[in-house]
Amino acid sequence: MAQHYGEHTRAVRATAAAPAPGTPMRIPVYRASTYAFATSRDYAASLTGDGQYAYARIDSPNSDAFAAAVAALEGAHLEGEVHGQGFASGMAAISTTLLALTHAGAHVVASRALYGNTYKLLDVVLRRFGVAVDFVDITDPAAVRAAFRPETVLVYTETLANPTMTVSDLPVLAALAHEAGALLVVDSTFASPVVCRPLEHGADIVLHSATKYLGGHSDATGGVAVGRPDLLARIREARIDLGPHLAADEAFLLHRGLETLPLRMARQCATAAEFAAALAEHPAVARVDHPSLPTHQGHVLARKLFDTGPEGPRYGAVVTVTPRGGREAGIAFADRLRLATIAPSLGGTHTVVSHVASTTHRQMSDEALHAAGIDPGAVRFSIGVEDPADLIADARQALDGLPVKK
Ligand SMILES: Cc1ncc(COP(=O)(O)O)c(C=O)c1O
Repeated sequence: MAQHYGEHTRAVRATAAAPAPGTPMRIPVYRASTYAFATSRDYAASLTGDGQYAYARIDSPNSDAFAAAVAALEGAHLEGEVHGQGFASGMAAISTTLLALTHAGAHVVASRALYGNTYKLLDVVLRRFGVAVDFVDITDPAAVRAAFRPETVLVYTETLANPTMTVSDLPVLAALAHEAGALLVVDSTFASPVVCRPLEHGADIVLHSATKYLGGHSDATGGVAVGRPDLLARIREARIDLGPHLAADEAFLLHRGLETLPLRMARQCATAAEFAAALAEHPAVARVDHPSLPTHQGHVLARKLFDTGPEGPRYGAVVTVTPRGGREAGIAFADRLRLATIAPSLGGTHTVVSHVASTTHRQMSDEALHAAGIDPGAVRFSIGVEDPADLIADARQALDGLPVKK
């Protein structure tokens, strides 16, 4: 796709091949697990990668089209090829990538502030297979450098960390990783390519839970890995062996969602900034985490690495609000909301909230939460497309009813 096109054109045009007369405007759902061949020779050739589809666990048109579209958006301004692979979930993309790029005896340097299941995958599952992992403060380049060993194969981080919205300095991490002969693997779920494209800042592989912003409507589960073709070939091999491919129906929905990603994301980011500023002033609030706030760790970095649209700078659309009063106050705050819905996940059109310590990060001890900078009372808002004034009024009424603690 032409690299000079704007983000909306790219998003719409990355969703389908240019329509020829009489062909459908979008790729139909290929609901088939197996494909027919004229000869045994053709069948055999397909298994060695001649581009023909054979079996849906191996490759499928909907998954390929979706992954190629994400690759086009993530590599929008890059010269050369960017490849993509579709997965049944974000965790499928993450686990397959980590299994493909590590081995017994290898070492990983990972951010301390990661999505809970990713943290557990690294801390428990990969360790069982002989992969050593050091969790570090990813905002401290000296700590990252100090963690490297001769066996370090990759650095793993999130563009915007869940739920603190800590911003990773991707160019610095890429330089450190490459200097040490390691890869930089980035989960960019919270940013989406509308906010930041890590490949343009030196990342080797970018992962998404497509369940979130890419799909955007809370109706499909999937994941995607994009980046260097040689690494994607290894990841594809592991995906075929492990079996977590993206299903055709899910790929279709996620792919359709991509068309409106810039429209949704720009609005969600703008609303999130307005919401964060309004709540930061409420007397019952101890802390608001959003990079739009000048006091946030990532404010300056976000201005450097993230896109600015006609609506202003983009800082992501998750806002974490910690009321005064600890764990119980956080639970009470979430329960008192009337418009924002208590629900898992994020990135959809509806605003949803989670009490972080008891849900998304339940796998982490209080010590690990503290190390990741997460307060036990934190409530994560995934800001949707509702009117900002309605969301702010809802949060204010919920806070107004809490006993204010100093
Ligand atoms: C940052 C991040 N990465 C990965 C995942 C996992 O995605 P999925 O639920 O699609 O497996 C999540 C889920 O919330 C997430 O927040």
